[in-house]
Amino acid sequence: MVDVILGLQWGDEGKGKIVDFFAKDYAVVARFQGGPNAGHTLYVKDKKVVLHQIPSGIFHEGITNLIGNGVVLDPVTLKKECDTVASFGVDLKKNLFIAQRTHLILPTHRALDKAAELSKGNEKIGSTLKGIGPTYMDKTGRNGLRVGDLLDKDFKNSYNKLRSKHQQLLDNYNFEEDITAWENEFFETLEFLKELNIVNGEYFINEKIRSGKKILAEGAQGSMLDIDFGTFPFVTSSNTTSAGVCSGLGIAPQLIKDVIGITKAYCTRVGSGPFPTELENETGEELRKLGNEFGATTGRPRRCGWIDLVALNFACMINGVTKIVMTKADVLDTFKELEVCTEYDVNGNKSREIPFQMERSKPIPVYKNFSGWNSDSSAINSYADLPETMKDYINFINNYLGVNINYISNGPGREQIVEVK
Ligand code: GDP
Ligand code: IMO
Ligand code: MG
Repeated sequence: MVDVILGLQWGDEGKGKIVDFFAKDYAVVARFQGGPNAGHTLYVKDKKVVLHQIPSGIFHEGITNLIGNGVVLDPVTLKKECDTVASFGVDLKKNLFIAQRTHLILPTHRALDKAAELSKGNEKIGSTLKGIGPTYMDKTGRNGLRVGDLLDKDFKNSYNKLRSKHQQLLDNYNFEEDITAWENEFFETLEFLKELNIVNGEYFINEKIRSGKKILAEGAQGSMLDIDFGTFPFVTSSNTTSAGVCSGLGIAPQLIKDVIGITKAYCTRVGSGPFPTELENETGEELRKLGNEFGATTGRPRRCGWIDLVALNFACMINGVTKIVMTKADVLDTFKELEVCTEYDVNGNKSREIPFQMERSKPIPVYKNFSGWNSDSSAINSYADLPETMKDYINFINNYLGVNINYISNGPGREQIVEVK
């Protein structure tokens, strides 16, 4: 049986914290897509850790963590993460497994990402420049190299062949940066990667399922960044939605039980692209300050705005969300008034649907106002003690979406979470 935790907005919903919170109920935590563009924050013994590729179950004794075939893996970033995780006493040989079909991010993929973004000028996507797009392009273009290929004797040959293709593209972009240092680092860390547990991910995970073990699939990015259903072209290059779980791990759809969607109590986006409820004013600044909304991977300030139920409703539909966790409720503690987007106004027409081309149709959000709770919610640990105004806010969202918020996260700490009951 497989449950899924994924983001319902534009990423950074707090997936890391929530996966870490639920992990103890599972035998395996598995990442199914994305790569080091992700930054999942959690707290271990009061110390902040940001994971990029290692699943967020890694700090739990006795839980298996799998990097699935749908991920694109940067060995250099992985080595750094492994060092951090090992410094907490985690035995990676026991707890971390990597699928052999996982595609490798090469130094030239990172260079191509940078060159492509630079060439876009004002239309840039705001990529994290981790090489995600070019690596997925080489996967679908049937050129890429995979973790399992590292064990072949002629890996270096295959690498050089692909590298020379990439060099032609880089020359076309007039990209002149010297990447020798990146390449040296890459080859050094390959030796480290080869020593980790490289497995046949699909048999590995299906074996576990057959023996009755519970699996938690951990998404990266968010539904509105999905390559098919996000705000294309301002998206990432993988299926961030629940459909990606099957292809990204090699499991059948009927094995998926709960799809747990994470949303902030408001909304953020990092990078370019449409964001209807964005607040480019003092309220937006306030959300950024109180929510400490700066990227976990790039440090960039996140764009902030009110919660968008049109987008959330769409994400619930695409993913088949069965449960919702609302994070960062405490960030709204001091706001006197809150707004909730219930409709889009597109050229004078009201709609509850996500337009095909959000960038061009420029929807204007229609809001419903709510009173804020104006009190400190961060120390509350039972639903009964939450302010009534917060419950009104939650009940409205539940009714609108037809899916219930089952947990409310009210602080970054592992224990700061309230079950709705
Ligand atoms: P992810 O990419 O979805 O894992 O989210 P990030 O780690 O990029 O960003 C979420 C940020 O919010 C992190 O700094 C978390 O420590 C923090 N966070 C998570 N849940 C809460 C919460 O309920 N309240 C507050 N104040 N911060 C939270
Ligand atoms: P987590 O897992 C927020 C955004 C980038 C950019 C776009 C494409 O931490 O929620 P890419 O590097 O994939 O080519 O960038 O997607 N983006 C994220 N935004 N959270 C993330 O991951 C993101 N991963 C990518 O900012 O706009
Ligand atoms: Mg993040």
